[in-house]
Amino acid sequence: MFDAKKFIAKSLEEIKEFVGEHKVISACSGGVDSTVTTFLVHKAVGDKLLAVFINDGLRREGEPEFVIRTLKDLGIKARLIDAKEAFFKIFAGRIDAEEKRKAFRHDFYRTLGRVAKEENIGVIAQGTIKADVIETVKGIKSQHNVLEQIGIDPLSYGYKILEPLRDLFKPEVRMVGRELGLPKNITERMPFPGPALSLRVLGVVTPERVEIVRKATQIVEDETSELGTFQNFAVLHNDKATGIKNGKRIYGDIITVRIVDSEDAVTAKAREVPYEVLKRIAARITEEIPSVVRCLYDITDKPPSTIEFE
Ligand code: XMP
Repeated sequence: MFDAKKFIAKSLEEIKEFVGEHKVISACSGGVDSTVTTFLVHKAVGDKLLAVFINDGLRREGEPEFVIRTLKDLGIKARLIDAKEAFFKIFAGRIDAEEKRKAFRHDFYRTLGRVAKEENIGVIAQGTIKADVIETVKGIKSQHNVLEQIGIDPLSYGYKILEPLRDLFKPEVRMVGRELGLPKNITERMPFPGPALSLRVLGVVTPERVEIVRKATQIVEDETSELGTFQNFAVLHNDKATGIKNGKRIYGDIITVRIVDSEDAVTAKAREVPYEVLKRIAARITEEIPSVVRCLYDITDKPPSTIEFE
């Protein structure tokens, strides 16, 4: 049985030893893993830590403000890095999911390297967990936050990497967060992938296409907040379909809604969501987003699907 208290005590010692005299940056996206990591490292090294939120333009509605406010409320120094332009540039012309992930990974670490240099910092902390490592090493998908385990030396980006949660699965990370006294809106938060909405825009990622999926995501989250599911989100397809808007035939966008139950993201089941909830989501998405003419619900489990589409 996992003992969160013991884990925290041991981890605090290990973090102090790893960090030594360095200052540390924690890359915090606001998700459970990176926020628990940030809080744990802060507990170990106090003000030697600077948390950064990289605004890559791929986050959910209101997310940058939410994350910075949460970190400050927790007493942690936090800096917002605006990197929207650079990130959209790296996606130009890329449509392959693995290529997009790898491009995201490279820019993510390069941006952190730039900030580390500006702030004269030698260690980056990140919230990698065991499932990320397993899936990347097995070649299922290259999680953006796995480097050393696949033979990339983080020193090539200019720093050492600290991953205090690398041996834990998501339910254990939540237990650590609860034991640390983090608020429920963090410990019980839905997982959200590092490369964010770029994985949910199939095909080319542009600011306009991200905006469509961002709006759809907000509608799905609003309408499903009471379901207690593991992950609820929207995906924008690469192809189009015929529909009717304002009495005119148009060739418009297709959104798929994905709502799954899972323990640890290793397997998942599509939730049998009440039909009226699905109808309401479809009505709102097609009414509130002008380009969308069709809304689908994904009933596939993992395996054979994965949770995300990319
Ligand atoms: P899949 O799609 O493989 O996802 O069933 C399993 C869990 O991992 C999340 N996910 C990611 N998280 N970087 C991340 O930090 C990634 O590249 C990535 N890809 C998937 C996904 O949202 C789910 O919770």
